[in-house]
Amino acid sequence: MNQCFNNSHIVLDPSKLPRHVAIIMDGNGRWAKSKGLPRIYGHKKGAEVAKKIIYKTKELGIPYLTLFAFSKENWLRPEEEIKTLLELLKVYLDAEFEEMKKRGIKFKVIGDKEDFPKDLQEKLELIEKTTEKNDEMVLCMALSYGGKNEIVKATRKLAEEVKKGKISPEDIDEKLFRNFLDTKDIPDPDLLIRTSGEMRISNFLLFQLAYTEFYFTSIYWPDFDENEYLKALYSYQQRERRFGRVYES
Ligand code: FPP
Repeated sequence: MNQCFNNSHIVLDPSKLPRHVAIIMDGNGRWAKSKGLPRIYGHKKGAEVAKKIIYKTKELGIPYLTLFAFSKENWLRPEEEIKTLLELLKVYLDAEFEEMKKRGIKFKVIGDKEDFPKDLQEKLELIEKTTEKNDEMVLCMALSYGGKNEIVKATRKLAEEVKKGKISPEDIDEKLFRNFLDTKDIPDPDLLIRTSGEMRISNFLLFQLAYTEFYFTSIYWPDFDENEYLKALYSYQQRERRFGRVYES
């Protein structure tokens, strides 16, 4: 068997890796507080960790990674913190654009790009366009994203098609509905990781997480390293996924 090793002796079965990992990167603020630092330091360290996890995902051969980088609700944070988060995102995009191209990573945004300042919107669109044909891995970033909002938007678009007579109500099934979601073309996540000890999904991928395996860890996101990632993947590989059916040995 072709095995993936690392120095922590975690051995993963490459034939049982998830196809899509989604991550709620939580605990940046608490990490900073625990060190007596302002919250923004937590976000800075968090962005570095995100970068490492993105490339580790590619190295492992996992084809889809979705990161919850900024939620619809995050707009309610203090202005200064929002500014820092957007700045970090910009710095990340500028620094990693070439690397994404070089490594064959396709970058995709889910959520409402139009909520962001024009320059950031344009940057996001340029990177999406430039990397659209890359096929080594899809890095999907949830930005100004909310699961309920995504479903409502999809319903509205679908209703417009029905109104125009392009779709009849009896044609609407799960497969067709998916085509109206921001995640169309992306398979549902197999594994959801949430750091920081919180055990909720916080309006993330509500439609897509129906049969996803959940992994919660009390580690704050800035302390989540490659070894913690391998632990999560190892835990996933021990699960028996039945998708509502009866397991037949
Ligand atoms: C949650 O921590 C994290 C966020 C709201 C944002 C996640 C953003 C990053 C990791 C940095 C930007 C990422 C990239 C890829 C450039 P929290 O602030 O809610 O922590 P707390 O619950 O301890 O307050």
